Amino acid sequence: MCGIIGVVALPGKTPYRPGVMVYRGLKRLEYRGYDSAGVAAVYHDKIIVVKGKGKIDDLEKKLGLSSVDGLTIIGHTRWATHGAPSDVNAHPHTDCKNEFAVVHNGIIQNFRELKQLLISKGHVFRSDTDTEVVPHLVEELYKTTGDVYQAFKQAIKMIKGSYALILISVHEPDKIFFAKKDSPLIIGLAEGFNLLASDIPALLEYTKKIITVRDNWIGYITPKEVFIEELDKGVIDWRKYVRIVEWSLEDATKSGYPHFMLKEIHEQPRALKDTFYGIREDVAVAEAVKLLLDAEKIYVTAAGTSYHAGYYYSILSAILARRPIIHFIASEYEVYAPTSSEKDVLIVISQSGETMDSLKALRAFKENGVKVIAVSNVIDSAIPRESDISIYTRAGPEIGVAATKTFTTQTLVLSWLAISHAEALGYLTRNEAEELRDWLGKSSEIASKIIAWNESYALKLSEWFSSRGNAYYLSRGIGVPVAMEGALKMKEISYIHAEAYPAGESKHGPIALVEENYPVLFVIPNHPELEKLILGNIQEMKARGAVIIGIASEDTSLRDQLDYWFKIPTTHWILTPITHTPPLQLLAYHTAVKRGYDPDKPRNLAKTVTVE
Ligand code: AGP
Repeated sequence: MCGIIGVVALPGKTPYRPGVMVYRGLKRLEYRGYDSAGVAAVYHDKIIVVKGKGKIDDLEKKLGLSSVDGLTIIGHTRWATHGAPSDVNAHPHTDCKNEFAVVHNGIIQNFRELKQLLISKGHVFRSDTDTEVVPHLVEELYKTTGDVYQAFKQAIKMIKGSYALILISVHEPDKIFFAKKDSPLIIGLAEGFNLLASDIPALLEYTKKIITVRDNWIGYITPKEVFIEELDKGVIDWRKYVRIVEWSLEDATKSGYPHFMLKEIHEQPRALKDTFYGIREDVAVAEAVKLLLDAEKIYVTAAGTSYHAGYYYSILSAILARRPIIHFIASEYEVYAPTSSEKDVLIVISQSGETMDSLKALRAFKENGVKVIAVSNVIDSAIPRESDISIYTRAGPEIGVAATKTFTTQTLVLSWLAISHAEALGYLTRNEAEELRDWLGKSSEIASKIIAWNESYALKLSEWFSSRGNAYYLSRGIGVPVAMEGALKMKEISYIHAEAYPAGESKHGPIALVEENYPVLFVIPNHPELEKLILGNIQEMKARGAVIIGIASEDTSLRDQLDYWFKIPTTHWILTPITHTPPLQLLAYHTAVKRGYDPDKPRNLAKTVTVE
């Protein structure tokens, strides 16, 4: 997820110089990505580009982002998905002759083929990004069209993937061209100038009059004009879509959601989609599988939510690849590092890539010659940098302290790895592996449905739940790590003491706590054998007066056992973390709000724990 902005103005008509407007707009978009930034302007008959690795304020001091001259300027603040954060990978990107400049938010899935095609036509690339194919493609097409908009339109038709793209050119200096599919884009309308941006916060101080660009819309803006058409459908009467924004700036940064956590819960479908397309073509997976095949012992470690993803991976690896994995909480690494040797592999999972406990564990294992695979959400962060192989989620920045979209995308990446490992070992045929991968490919639309089905139910149940003091979160097999994740969410933002453990363990002590009205949540995977086992556990809890809350598929055989039922579509059990976690996230969120707490800033916690 990145932030893009563009301003095109008549002389003397803007509240600040356009360069200052773009800089201020980028600051408002910084929550969307902050590993590098840059601006480009049409100035006389050339394009000036100022960009680099680092935060916007540091780049302003170092390079003077806001001092760029010109009346047509675009800007970008980056959350790297392809190509590590660096000066050359920062946006904007230009063509060979610096006649076109582009900024982009999204993922171009077919960029490798396009890049090969353009290199074969003599284009020279400077970066490792997917985005850089766009200015070169427009440059190539412009040779035949002689018209910027036609070249841009033909280029867009050749691109597959998600994008909010804006382009400027020396050939049409008073226009900013745009195209949108899946990634957000807003047009801002003002007197004597017009704007484009990823999100409303970047526009609010200049105008409240906006147009939300729809998917497959393409067009351009000038200081006084807007032109929009729907690809292959014809011209759009954009005046019908103009609306006045009533949001405050604070609201707008959260896109109208009351908290970043709720926004990020709702971002999971997009995050899963981007992660799926990213992992599908990630060469690091094959390299990781090779390490796993040669490994004597396989360890996995992480902290908090990421540990739950690692625990899930260890269960999946045992089931699919018949490879038991030693999973341990990162801060306990001194117990396990001495047992490792250069024949072993360690997987370290960390959304931030900066958690000190996980970094210390990594270093201790590396001292024994262990090969390390990192799974992270931040390209080029400390843990990937010190690992042998890095596989990335593409969830975009997660601002809320409580992890949500980074957990479900971690489990998608880890499922892909376990499937590929099992296939390489011959425990899954190609068809069986492809069928499981197809399920992962459907996770985005399934997550959408689950959130829509359960949001209001979670709000309603939080009325009762917010008065509870304790709760158990139980499951069996693949569901246990999900129960642990749900309990952590409830603990860390509503401060209710929620405890998770394998349901079969209840009779060995924990059930002593259960009394009338004691809430017990059951994560019920779509798995017949597990359902049978869980039935017994539900009955032993009900016999002691517990209130049974189930997360279960719409055709579960346990429906009559449940006092409350988060209903989810019937899918393959491999999707359990992705299907069963969102209802638990929503319940925790609404319970915390009901109890009067701020889910984005839970007491005693930090988003990234960079201390031991
Ligand atoms: C989870 O909601 C918490 N934010 C916390 O447990 C977190 O998962 C843990 O600190 C690990 O962070 P990491 O994934 O960035 O390493």
